[in-house]
Amino acid sequence: MARLVICVLLCVAALAQAGHEKYEGHQLYRVSGLSDQIAELEASLDILSTKPGARTASGKLEAIVRLSPEEKEQWLQYFDERNMAYFKMADNLADILREEESQIQVSRAAAKRSGKSIGFETYYRHQEINDYLDELAAEYPDLVTVINAGLSYEGRQIKLVRISSTRFENLMKPVIVIDAMVHAREWVTTPVAIYVINQLVLELSSSVLTQEIDWIIIPLANPDGYEYTIDEDRLWRKTRSKSHPGAEECPGVDGNRNFDHYHGTSAASANPCSIIYEGPRAFSEPEIRVIQDAVLSNLQRTALYISLHSYGNMFLYAWGNNGTLPQNGLILHLAGVRMATEIDKLALDKADRYIVGNAANVLYYTTGTSRDWTRAVGIPLTYTLELPGYEYDFVVPPTYIKQIVTETWAGIAEGAHYVLSTW
Ligand SMILES: *[C@@H]1O[C@H](CO)[C@@H](O)[C@H](O)[C@H]1NC(C)=O
Repeated sequence: MARLVICVLLCVAALAQAGHEKYEGHQLYRVSGLSDQIAELEASLDILSTKPGARTASGKLEAIVRLSPEEKEQWLQYFDERNMAYFKMADNLADILREEESQIQVSRAAAKRSGKSIGFETYYRHQEINDYLDELAAEYPDLVTVINAGLSYEGRQIKLVRISSTRFENLMKPVIVIDAMVHAREWVTTPVAIYVINQLVLELSSSVLTQEIDWIIIPLANPDGYEYTIDEDRLWRKTRSKSHPGAEECPGVDGNRNFDHYHGTSAASANPCSIIYEGPRAFSEPEIRVIQDAVLSNLQRTALYISLHSYGNMFLYAWGNNGTLPQNGLILHLAGVRMATEIDKLALDKADRYIVGNAANVLYYTTGTSRDWTRAVGIPLTYTLELPGYEYDFVVPPTYIKQIVTETWAGIAEGAHYVLSTW
């Protein structure tokens, strides 16, 4: 009996989260406003997602924001004064997080029983994912190379997976680069990256996608932030670095504002306490330098870059800094639509259809993003891919992981076929 009790405690501790009480009484509101109004909120509020409003409210955006009991009255008054319509969506965020936690415990217990080292029924910790990638490389040495690409600020190993039937030695092949989990709370992004790896290595190793393309995949770019979302704060977004002024009070940098593209200009935040803090300088974050190095490593033949984010069902392309289009804007749109169409074919009925568009026109101005930087350094097709959140925002229940990884793979595979057809 004592042993059973210990097991129950330890087994549950495997992915036990903490810190939900800090969201006791926090409410989620859907707020609608002009692009500028929503962008202004992002500097001082926790915006969970933004998307274009319904057609009737054309020109407006809808954002999901989190309001603590202390700040609620003040912000609702702020919205009223600006004629920004709002609607309460959830009464107590802490309850939602506790519900997610209990679902994950159940799904992890089930996943353990099935005996697979990694599956798509639950979420895994950083170390488990790294171990899995090393096992895969050991089992398929002719196809998979796992590189320890760098350490996070807190010293965790960031793995980079290279998949190639020619050991990256055939310089005629196109390269596709994918990263995931730059934003720590966007949990479903890492399973998508792992699924892409599994498809290429386990299911399709003799197909053109594996034989004719070299792949570089970083499945978990921000391990410090990710582990922090498990142990301390489910809604953490940034890195956990403390190398900037004000870091003691407000650690961490928004990795997707830290790239060297219009960094330090107005459309990100220079305030370290903001969730879109761009960092003290471009590429200040070791996690982002791992992506930088990966992108630059085979730049001349890199055809497609996708940064996986959650959530909102969108393929966003450059330029986010000013809303104009790159020279190949039409091609960016076309390839984006082709990927989105394949995903929509498999999507759940309740899911929003994908939106494909220029990041600044669909949403608002951003600077220092990976999508814009990779386009600026010469990769023709670069996207921010916002996965579905359904009604769960980024707290996507483990029962939906299978659906999201499967449909998203269909889109990425279409993108890869498009690359081959135009290479
Ligand atoms: C918009 O930004 C891009 C770089 O992202 C730049 O190449 C282009 O010249 C800018 N266009 C305008 C009109 O400022």
